[in-house]
Amino acid sequence: MPQVLTHQQLLETAKEFGTPLYVYHAERITEQYLRLKEAFRETNASFFYACKALTNVNILRHIRQIGCNVDCSSVNEVKLALSAGFEPARILYTSNNIAFSEITEAVGLGVNINIDSLSNLRKFADQYGHSYPVGVRLRPNIMAGGNIKISTGHGKSKFGIPVEDIDKVIDLIREKDLQIRTLHIHTGSEIKDVEVFVKGIEVLFDLAPRFPALKTIDLGGGIKVPYKPGEEGTDVALLGKRVKEEFEGFAEKTGRRLQVWFEPGKFLVSEAGYLIVQTTVLKQSGATCFVGVDSGLNHLIRPMFYGSYHHIENISNNSGALRPYHIVGNICETDSFAEDRMVAEIREGDYLVLYNAGAYGFEMASNYNARFKPAEVLVKDNKAQLIRRRDTLDDLLATQLILKD
Ligand code: LLP
Repeated sequence: MPQVLTHQQLLETAKEFGTPLYVYHAERITEQYLRLKEAFRETNASFFYACKALTNVNILRHIRQIGCNVDCSSVNEVKLALSAGFEPARILYTSNNIAFSEITEAVGLGVNINIDSLSNLRKFADQYGHSYPVGVRLRPNIMAGGNIKISTGHGKSKFGIPVEDIDKVIDLIREKDLQIRTLHIHTGSEIKDVEVFVKGIEVLFDLAPRFPALKTIDLGGGIKVPYKPGEEGTDVALLGKRVKEEFEGFAEKTGRRLQVWFEPGKFLVSEAGYLIVQTTVLKQSGATCFVGVDSGLNHLIRPMFYGSYHHIENISNNSGALRPYHIVGNICETDSFAEDRMVAEIREGDYLVLYNAGAYGFEMASNYNARFKPAEVLVKDNKAQLIRRRDTLDDLLATQLILKD
């Protein structure tokens, strides 16, 4: 059984720190990392936590301490990773559609870089030539992922250099002696089917002979975790087995032993996170019972943005009879966490937990309606500690400049 925080632990933590509250469980993150290590123990594999899922520095430090590397999607994430103590060699910067100045900054910081446009790759080749090995992010034209908003490798996606432009990449190797060490793809988030990853490997293996300096195939993130009770995630043991077979087959055929990188975000932190909210009002409208809570799409946007399911339980009255509820936020917009959701009888003041809140929860939160973002707590070694205090009104005003009358 995976490690979970019990209702009792969650309730006590919510009462101690107040709601709305994000709670993260360090040991659960470790457990997921070890599952990956185990599944890939016979493959030359490295894992870079896609920290866009959750960047609290204490989470980054934990990731570093357990031996996992880090993948960043902005130069600021790179700087956060450095401040969490990662050495540059353990940091990967997979950029998309950024100004070239951000790439020069990343070069200055000495981190691994994947470049995702021909335009930036040309500038990079002109400026650095052979001197700084680099990776390229390709768009393999593969449809993958849980929904269209999180599908990134298909033929209409903005991400990566379209694979049909590969000759132009090769030209740069010839003209500027560019050292392309990594071929990268990230086809989507929530990819359950292992064969989708294999398809990506095959696209890249077909191209590999044209890249003499190639050392790494980077398959990005996208490993799926269950969100609904009874749902299954990606079979990581099978993924490990299939990747091993593919890489060994490639080595036998070509004599080249490549390493594989992954950039898991959700897989490492989704299930380790909980959003605890408190119910504010109950509103009966015909057959519908709306449950208002002290949170909303400003704190967890996934249900409204992607139609995502987050499992919800009543942690202060879990033995109540199951009833259907519309669980809604307090934002001045239609913001539902769940509709017609069966939850143990909810009373005003009850505490609810939303599961799978570790990835893209706090990280996508905002101050919309001038509301404070939730506080964040890390539970490690059975100890709950505040890792981000709740906002104050001063925080909302901190970056504003008051003009003279
Ligand atoms: N690597 C790259 C280059 C990515 O773009 C992403 C996610 C990842 C790794 C990590 O993917 P994961 O393992 O977490 O699926 N906010 C959305 C997900 C957007 C993912 C964007 N890129 C959500 O909440 O579902």
